[in-house]
Amino acid sequence: MAEELFKEFREHSVSEFFRKNAAMLGYTGKIRSLTTIVHEGVTNAIDAAEEAGVLPKVNVIIKRVNEEPEHFKIVIEDNAAGIPKEYIPNVFGKMLAGTKLHRYMQSRGQQGIGISGSVMYGQITSGKPTTVVTSTGNGEIVRADVMIDVDRNEGKILNEEKFKGKWQGTRVEIDAKDVSYMRSRYGPFNYLRMTAIANPHTHITFVEPDGTLTVFERGTDKVPERPKPMPLHPWGIMSDDLLVLAKHTKGRTVASFLSAELSRVSKRKAEEVCRLAGISPNKKPSELTWEEAERIVSAFKQVKLYAPPTSGLRPIGAVDIENGMRKILNPEFTYSITRPPKVYRGGLPFIVEVGIAYGGNAGKVAEGKGEGEEGENEVGMELVRFANRAPLIFDQGGCAITAAIRSIEWRRYGVDPATAPITLFVNVVSAYVPYTSAGKQSIADEPEVLNEIRAAVMEAARELRRFLYRRIRLKERQERAGIFEQYLPIIAKKAAVLAGVKEPDIKLLLKKVTGVEHAKEGEN
Ligand SMILES: Nc1ncnc2c1ncn2[C@@H]1O[C@H](COP(=O)(O)OP(=O)(O)OP(=O)(O)O)[C@@H](O)[C@H]1O
Ligand SMILES: [Mg+2]
Repeated sequence: MAEELFKEFREHSVSEFFRKNAAMLGYTGKIRSLTTIVHEGVTNAIDAAEEAGVLPKVNVIIKRVNEEPEHFKIVIEDNAAGIPKEYIPNVFGKMLAGTKLHRYMQSRGQQGIGISGSVMYGQITSGKPTTVVTSTGNGEIVRADVMIDVDRNEGKILNEEKFKGKWQGTRVEIDAKDVSYMRSRYGPFNYLRMTAIANPHTHITFVEPDGTLTVFERGTDKVPERPKPMPLHPWGIMSDDLLVLAKHTKGRTVASFLSAELSRVSKRKAEEVCRLAGISPNKKPSELTWEEAERIVSAFKQVKLYAPPTSGLRPIGAVDIENGMRKILNPEFTYSITRPPKVYRGGLPFIVEVGIAYGGNAGKVAEGKGEGEEGENEVGMELVRFANRAPLIFDQGGCAITAAIRSIEWRRYGVDPATAPITLFVNVVSAYVPYTSAGKQSIADEPEVLNEIRAAVMEAARELRRFLYRRIRLKERQERAGIFEQYLPIIAKKAAVLAGVKEPDIKLLLKKVTGVEHAKEGEN
């Protein structure tokens, strides 16, 4: 029986797996699928521009194909360094491949599956390849059609042309069916608007299927500092991590391996750790056993080390968050904070930033109902989540940010989340964001991360409470003033009659008690 059954035993490529489980990459529902494609293209575009050290300029066009209702072409173009021709098949056609997965550096992408997932979605819904136009600025522009060979998890180039031109950057055109366009909270328009808020250094233009052009202008012309790689810190490392690093290291001895691959580990520290772990510092890293790796991990707990470096983290900054919120929400009150770095899982540094806006257009959640429709505006606390400056639009329920906000007793801050005109902005930055799934739309509830978000939001909420109380006091003063205004003239008149004197001029007195200048009689 078993022999029979096991004749069916097969292998699966990564591509085959994600072809069958596209939902894991965020391809569920027609609107979400479209937004996911935009998200993958735009995060790559901004990452690439930042790495090239240029101010990102991203153009997004979504247009209908053949007037079919659920068939669109999605075009995303950037001004980054371009992609060398020989890497085109691997960038767009190989899943789990890229320049970001093996280094600890803050970037929007970290898995090497984003854009190849979009190519796959296009391919399985429309049967069409993705067109890539790219140039590294060498005077030659390459245009190629790419499809994924699912069995092999490899990219195939169908047509390739080269022409001369001075342009530099990358343009990706994905043809996808089973998607629909809407201007709702979950649609591409809102996604790009949120990207603009969290990336004031990025210029975005967007053309919607009906031809409407929107330009999200830059709020700053400062080229952000390039992200810096931050190697793992020994406090956050496990035996398995160590063995994986040992396999790929250039270090020839365990001592040089430890100091080269981990942060805050000098050669001397590495030798001390080897001594404590009872391992020769000259041993070859590739010969480390599991038990030895365990001993190294525990030896690291006995030596003194500097805390993990955080110099590679690139938060948005409180000033830019506040400017972004003012520009887009026009609120009565805003407050923003970028908290100092913290560490989760012992050695992975992260920073939480929070902005809170009250009044104006804050808290107005546009729920579009139909194609191109704005939808009705309902007011209530709106939460906008970001990870490494990329908007998180979906899977709100399972996210640590949501959990942190739900755990706060808002009444203590004078707020009813169901009706308050509040927009709450939370950005978590890290070289390694603990996402709950490959779709990268929600953050896992690592206790340190959750607590830090909670503390940051409470700090902002305290400032809001101060503002709200000041407003209440002002209102009370105005009401009191109103009472005086109403009754003082009557009392003055009656008192004058009783005392048999001329009615006094009470304007000065009114001003004193109410703090308001009063018009002379006859004036309006
Ligand atoms: N517009 C672009 N310009 C330059 N390089 C790019 C561009 N888009 C993608 N790449 C390269 O292709 C690789 C694969 O991209 P992909 O989106 O699949 O993965 P990723 O961004 O590394 O991680 P994630 O899966 O989290 O998005 C990137 O790591 C990057 O090296
Ligand atoms: Mg990506």
